[in-house]
Amino acid sequence: MNTTPQRVEHQLTDKGYVPVYTTAVVEQPWSSYSSDDHAVWAQLFERQQKVLVGRASDEFLTAQRAMHMTPDRIPKFDDLNRTLRAHTGWELIGVEGLLPELTFFDHLANRRFPVTWWIRKPEQIDYLSEPDLFHDLFGHVPLLMNPVFADYMQAYGKGGVKAHGIDPDALVHLTRLYWYTVEFGLIKQADGLRIYGSGIVSSKSESIYSLESNAPNRIGFDLERVMRTRYRIDTFQKTYFVIDSFEQLMRATEPDFTPIYQRLREHDSIPAGDVLASDAVFNRGTGEGWLTDGDV
Ligand code: PHE
Ligand code: FE
Repeated sequence: MNTTPQRVEHQLTDKGYVPVYTTAVVEQPWSSYSSDDHAVWAQLFERQQKVLVGRASDEFLTAQRAMHMTPDRIPKFDDLNRTLRAHTGWELIGVEGLLPELTFFDHLANRRFPVTWWIRKPEQIDYLSEPDLFHDLFGHVPLLMNPVFADYMQAYGKGGVKAHGIDPDALVHLTRLYWYTVEFGLIKQADGLRIYGSGIVSSKSESIYSLESNAPNRIGFDLERVMRTRYRIDTFQKTYFVIDSFEQLMRATEPDFTPIYQRLREHDSIPAGDVLASDAVFNRGTGEGWLTDGDV
């Protein structure tokens, strides 16, 4: 997730020190990566490759093969960019971390995907609270090779620029859509449910939990239902939404959202773990292990 600004620097102005978000595009300092950095990449890459067999969607695995990332060393953005540009016209840009929303949307709208240049430390292998290079590169980048998903990401960026000009509620609703698709989406394949969301794909424990645990809900994708649903940023999701295909996602998000944002303003949000009578339920979660507060 790259939409909430967190990483800030302070600048002295006539009002004293004020925070400014780090938005600069940075060259990937590839020769500065330590052997620890490359080893963290290798360890995570090899571990996830095994976990994703039979769990990641065929689209993800196909796109990943076409991307030619290897475990032996951290990929160079320049190399990946040659492949990406040739296939779908996307390019990666290096960034320090999370970006202000409008900056993030503008990059996506222009088919630029911001990738955090630094990788987590060995003691953070299993969890860290902000996106790093492994999450961004391993989790997000492969699907930019899929033509339909590549278009969805750009459309989302354009939609974000538009929503930013409407009001904060519109942004909240749009962000939930990103969360439950790009970050934590499941997809239905002929042989069962699979993962495509990058937050899941880049996490060993959530790859297993999202598909195999009885605790979370797995519910069929419905645009307005998703946009009303709150989510978790500190634990596994209580609910995962299942799409039939990327084409379904494209079609559902094609209409102008302006009247949808207006309609959603009249509705309450839905707690992350609720199941509605109108839901298409794949799994009704047992709720085991859920925290009772903290839905965002
Ligand atoms: N169709 C949406 C709008 O008009 C834009 C959008 C596309 C949003 C794809 C999300 C995903 O605002
Ligand atoms: Fe992310």
